Amino acid sequence: MAFLAAVQELEVGFPRRTGEVVRVVRGANFAVAEGESVALVGESGCGKTLTALSLVNLLPEPGRIVGGRVEVAGKDVRALPEQELQQLRGALVGYVFQDPSSALNPLLRIGTQVAEAGVLRYRWQRQEARRKAVQLLREVGLADAEAVAAAYPHQLSGGQRQRALLAAALSGDPRLLVLDEPTSALDPLAKQRLLELFGRVQCERGLAMLVITHDFTLAALATQRVVVMYAGETVESGDTAQVLASPLHPYTQALLRCAVLLPRSEGDGSRVPLATIPGEVPAPAEWGRRCRFVERCDQDLPRCSMAHPALVEVTPGRRVRCFLHADGEGPGGQ
Ligand SMILES: Nc1ncnc2c1ncn2[C@@H]1O[C@H](COP(=O)(O)OP(=O)(O)OP(=O)(O)O)[C@@H](O)[C@H]1O
Ligand code: SF4
Ligand SMILES: [Mg+2]
Repeated sequence: MAFLAAVQELEVGFPRRTGEVVRVVRGANFAVAEGESVALVGESGCGKTLTALSLVNLLPEPGRIVGGRVEVAGKDVRALPEQELQQLRGALVGYVFQDPSSALNPLLRIGTQVAEAGVLRYRWQRQEARRKAVQLLREVGLADAEAVAAAYPHQLSGGQRQRALLAAALSGDPRLLVLDEPTSALDPLAKQRLLELFGRVQCERGLAMLVITHDFTLAALATQRVVVMYAGETVESGDTAQVLASPLHPYTQALLRCAVLLPRSEGDGSRVPLATIPGEVPAPAEWGRRCRFVERCDQDLPRCSMAHPALVEVTPGRRVRCFLHADGEGPGGQ
């Protein structure tokens, strides 16, 4: 299958003053096919945002891609000159950033920001840009689109800002839409409406979608495939329905026990409390030559503390990084 975007053995590093490079992502792997929706799921700090930002080589300074391969539409992103990268951002990949308030410039009107990628790609003149911005704001369900286009970010609600960001991401007619925690700051109703909007826009435009989230419920509702990340690496991936029905990696199993996928109640009607995963995601300095989940795993084997498992395809389309399911030792151990 030809993939629109593919990340293989990605390593993202931050150089220290001493010259040492700290790799905070090491072993991220996933791919998104044309028109497909994929979720990148994992706890805070697992490297989801940095992995997604690598698709457009837009890492926060002084972060760099220091290993692996990132391809978008068959192009090696690391090898692209800045001018081509700018075309890629917006024209191929529309990105809705994690924090809507800091992703919008407080000093510019919404309409100007919405039209930006289109202006860059299609060289819209001022009037055309204004007309297109209003059209895009309408497409994302903002009824009073003219007023929203003329407003500044602080004059909008959280839900309106999130929609404006979506309109901005669509203005360059991308083929892949990246949504980083798109609903985390919204109330349940606004969340539900936004999810419906993503589905409609994706379907109407035939877009591929990468949804980054802590929340398995969102992955279950909005995506066809799921990629689970833990401590900077992919630990499981596969068809969303299959992963939900039979998660293979102990981390995925634990995440699912924490997710509010179904109403949970005891026979007497009392609520079953959601599970939590004891312990914390280890920092890169603690990864070592072992399974990065070993300290929190309830099923560890003697081998898990001595070798770093490889990400292995166990059935077609289903990959897992765990010695319970595959024997291979992988790169990424130190
Ligand atoms: N600008 C930065 N400088 C140095 N380290 C960073 C920087 N940004 C992120 N990191 C490190 O990289 C790790 C992964 O960060 P990332 O933002 O990709 O995580 P995430 O999975 O998106 O988390 P969240 O769910 O909280 O958004 C963080 O734990 C942090 O240690
Ligand atoms: S490799 Fe071992 S420690 Fe790691 S998730 Fe699998 S069983 Fe648990
Ligand atoms: Mg993030």
